Amino acid sequence: MERLPGRVLISQDEIAARVAELGTAIGRDYAGRAPILVGVLKGALVFVADLVRAIALPVSLDFMSLSSYGSGTRSSGVVRLSADLSMSIEGRDVIVVEDIIDSGRTISYLRRNLATRHPRSLALCALLDKVARREIEVPVDYVGFVIPDEFVVGYGLDHDGLHRNLGHIAALETRVAP
Ligand code: IMP
Ligand code: MG
Repeated sequence: MERLPGRVLISQDEIAARVAELGTAIGRDYAGRAPILVGVLKGALVFVADLVRAIALPVSLDFMSLSSYGSGTRSSGVVRLSADLSMSIEGRDVIVVEDIIDSGRTISYLRRNLATRHPRSLALCALLDKVARREIEVPVDYVGFVIPDEFVVGYGLDHDGLHRNLGHIAALETRVAP
């Protein structure tokens, strides 16, 4: 049995249109300011690359590398910080950019971690939100799409490190090898 990308959940065009809307909303909400976008690697890499170009403001871009998953499709609940920011966020407007919020554990850890560094403001932008799976309540300021409880890949999201390079979001499906 193999688990492979199957049914298209969100097409490339739908993603592009929604990313443009999110960029416009952020541009409006942060008018006159210069926020730092913090992309959470590796999953948010593709999303943040598109989002940053949809925001008509002087933005800075930085990254953190976190992982909460082993090779399965369920959160281990253990969050590991494997690469930190390269700049200070003290007194800055920070927008954390995540690929997907599932249990909420990763982002609540990240929120607490970043809050100790005294940013001026701290907001969260997630491409996907699996609302039904939330275990820890976290405020999400910008959401691309709310999706059902299904494991998805593509547009930066992986399964066992693969499928990040798909242009669309697909459901991971189990196939019986012929
Ligand atoms: P949480 O800590 O349970 O909220 O999980 C968040 C992290 O788990 C995300 O940043 C993803 O890296 C990963 N994740 C959760 N659901 C999926 C999925 O459906 N596909 C790929 N990665 C996922
Ligand atoms: Mg992630």
